[in-house]
Amino acid sequence: MVKINDNYQKLQGSYLFSTIAKKVNAFSSAHPEKKIIRLGIGDVTRPLTPTIIKTLHASVDEMADEKTFRGYAPDLGYDFLRKAICDNDYRSRGCRIEEDEIFVSDGAKPDSGNIQEIFDADCKIAVCDPVYPVYVDSNVMAGRAGDYDEKTGRYTNVVYMECTAQNGFAPELPKEACDLIYLCFPNNPTGATLKKSELQQWVDYANKNGSVIIFDAAYEAYISDDCPHSIYECEGATQCAIELHSFSKNAGFTGLRLGYAVVPKELKRGGVSLNSLWARRHATKYNGAPYIVQRAGEAVYSEEGKKEIRGLIDYYMENAKYIVSGLEKAGYNVFGGTNSPYIWLATPDKMTSWEFFDHLLEKANVVGTPGVGFGACGEGYFRLTSFGSHENTREAVDRICNL
Ligand code: MLT
Repeated sequence: MVKINDNYQKLQGSYLFSTIAKKVNAFSSAHPEKKIIRLGIGDVTRPLTPTIIKTLHASVDEMADEKTFRGYAPDLGYDFLRKAICDNDYRSRGCRIEEDEIFVSDGAKPDSGNIQEIFDADCKIAVCDPVYPVYVDSNVMAGRAGDYDEKTGRYTNVVYMECTAQNGFAPELPKEACDLIYLCFPNNPTGATLKKSELQQWVDYANKNGSVIIFDAAYEAYISDDCPHSIYECEGATQCAIELHSFSKNAGFTGLRLGYAVVPKELKRGGVSLNSLWARRHATKYNGAPYIVQRAGEAVYSEEGKKEIRGLIDYYMENAKYIVSGLEKAGYNVFGGTNSPYIWLATPDKMTSWEFFDHLLEKANVVGTPGVGFGACGEGYFRLTSFGSHENTREAVDRICNL
């Protein structure tokens, strides 16, 4: 009889956001009269901007004409998009990244889950705690994380780098050597950022130890100060870092699906170029993001597109401001929300994260994300997103403050 991949048995329950969705659906079926406001999963609510819509329409029309019809997309992405990414996200920032180091994909979530495939099964991984669950779960599936310890709420073979209010939610360099280090800044879920000098220490650590950093830059568009947008702003990062990007959070593509990974050619381990491994993996398992979506991605970098995208980010950051100031006035201890669309708050009255989740759902009919769902250090914390509409965000904050 065929055997299943037993590592899946080591995963904890269901995926965090599926668990939340189930709980919320049960509550809403029992109380159909209640208006639930969802500030849980980081899903955008503003429609795509006019330039994106115009480009989508035009490229759909191209598909209707045999002279301009496109079949399979090039597996690593269309040149027009790879060039736009390179020029705007890297060359303009002085980073030495070339088009053939960009791998267009259907988003940062799949890339962050899949990238571990090109590394050895015995690699030691290090993650922040709290952490976006995909980094850990994908390594559990690959058999790299060890066993789940109920007592600690952690996997035995993972190095957890604690991010707490005491260290400003910035992880300290691991004492033991780690092979694969996942970093996400601006951080999901805490909203913390790293200064360039802090990020440089990680790059130096990785180069010294032969580690590889997987740098998730999904939220870089929300940076409003001089924090680095890309790890390649640091000296030596092209020799130790892979960077992941998303069009979801800046341009509202959560439903369209588009992202990219950067794997520099000079990033080598054991004399082998990781760029060529990822290219091989991409070509074998992926048929490319749809043409119309890649054209829409290119339009994000047009002058009009950039202006519109700035408008979207400003819209969400106005929500973030409202959440932070409202909750602070009501006496909450609040973090994030300045360089990030996430607000991370300490639960009141020593409530656990899930107790506070239930409390908010039942009493305010507001959905957030329990901090402990992101790891043991998230216990006693709670995450709200600023991706709602102004109206819903204000109503949610007012309801929470009136509890
Ligand atoms: C989140 O809420 O943490 C993210 O939206 C999930 C995701 O991007 O996959």
